[in-house]
Amino acid sequence: MIVRFVPYPMAYPRPIPVRFEPVGLTVMVSPGTTLLEASRRAGISLPSTCGGQCECGECIVIVVDGQLSSLTIEEEAKLSEEGLQQNWRLACCARVHSQARVQIPAQKAEFH
Ligand code: FES
Repeated sequence: MIVRFVPYPMAYPRPIPVRFEPVGLTVMVSPGTTLLEASRRAGISLPSTCGGQCECGECIVIVVDGQLSSLTIEEEAKLSEEGLQQNWRLACCARVHSQARVQIPAQKAEFH
């Protein structure tokens, strides 16, 4: 019998929790998952007419805490200066690197 050692967590990244407020839903996702993908796993439907291509600017969320990927050029172009100062992100561009808590603007989401 051959036993192969697969180092952890390189082969199996440890899932991290992403919590969506005000609905209070938490999903476990792999590091690098976009907030849009995480919201869909939570059953939350954010507006996204571009299909998650960082083009429409409709999937705005507010990051309350957590480490995420750096702002993309698309986010800097689509989000206002005021929004950037208030931690707005485009859910399809922002990828989680640690546990995170995210606020969904009241008029933005549908829940399934
Ligand atoms: S889904 Fe269109 S910008 Fe995010």
